[in-house]
Amino acid sequence: IAVLTASPEFAGKKILVTAGGTIEPIDPVRYIGNRSSGKMGYALARNAAKRGGAVTLISGPTGLAAPEAVEVIRVETAAQMRTAVLTRFADADIIIKAAAVADYRPREVAPQKIKKAGEVLSITLEKNPDILTELGQIKRQRQILVGFAAETQNLIDNAREKIVRKNLDMIVANNVTLPGAGFNTDTNIVKLLYKDGNIEDLPKMSKDEVARIILDKIHQYCQTAY
Ligand code: CTP
Ligand code: CA
Repeated sequence: IAVLTASPEFAGKKILVTAGGTIEPIDPVRYIGNRSSGKMGYALARNAAKRGGAVTLISGPTGLAAPEAVEVIRVETAAQMRTAVLTRFADADIIIKAAAVADYRPREVAPQKIKKAGEVLSITLEKNPDILTELGQIKRQRQILVGFAAETQNLIDNAREKIVRKNLDMIVANNVTLPGAGFNTDTNIVKLLYKDGNIEDLPKMSKDEVARIILDKIHQYCQTAY
């Protein structure tokens, strides 16, 4: 008996997702980190795999379990994430950068634990490469590049500027100061901005639902954009 089912929407698509925050070492026992939980990126990876995609998840340290049927590559620093992403980028059809990459890292990593001494301690930071901007520069016509923007003010203006500067197809913008949005919550409140100027406002919903809607939009975009 033949059972006919529609082929899953991301069948044959290679999907690269980044998630979690990077951590940047200060010395052997300390690091600079951020409040990203990884939940949004993991929800995207899990749902993309459920819908037939061949998903690779490049993850900062999160403590989250690998989603079913997803290849997980664990990294710590922005530099490691950059290498992991760049080596897989050429092959990917859809790239979703949900990770909170550290903008700066300590210029020097102390080889030994820094001992408590003076009343004030300064650490000099230097800029990390912007992975997403690099991807925007090498992106091919048919690759779909989706970024995230975590903002505390001027959400739309900042997100629009990032779409242009990073050459994105879509950006998921969230005001991380709203209750029920942003880091470490199970819900999120986001706006989806597209490179043609369109904006969609989503109400507060679970990160799983947000992920499903983002994937719906990416799927529609795949059908119409080229
Ligand atoms: N991003 C990246 N590499 C970095 C910094 C950010 O790939 N070194 C990506 C993030 O994964 C996200 C997007 O860029 O998809 C936007 O990150 P965000 O921190 O909102 O933007 P920035 O360009 O870093 O600007 P700022 O932090 O000043 O708002
Ligand atoms: Ca940043």
